[in-house]
Amino acid sequence: MDKAVRVTLAGQGWAFDAQAPATVLQSAERAGVRLPSSCRNGTCRTCICLSTSGTVRYLIEWPGLSADEKREGYILPCVAIAETDLLIAVPAASRFA
Ligand code: FES
Repeated sequence: MDKAVRVTLAGQGWAFDAQAPATVLQSAERAGVRLPSSCRNGTCRTCICLSTSGTVRYLIEWPGLSADEKREGYILPCVAIAETDLLIAVPAASRFA
């Protein structure tokens, strides 16, 4: 089993653990953090966000990201599994009440 890693939201300073096979999106929700999402299968890009540190792998072969976006650090949390600690920027994140 993969070890848990820490995902930190750069703007809010909130952090949560993520552990495969949970995606970054699922891990956030389990920790009470709501990230924007819609399709949850890597196609609609509602969840796209910038990760300025760390690496992810994907559940699907062709997540809806261009090569340029990947190079710039954009990820799709709904299909991304954190492989290392991540720092992500999601200005629209909120906490479950
Ligand atoms: S929620 Fe649609 S691509 Fe992530």
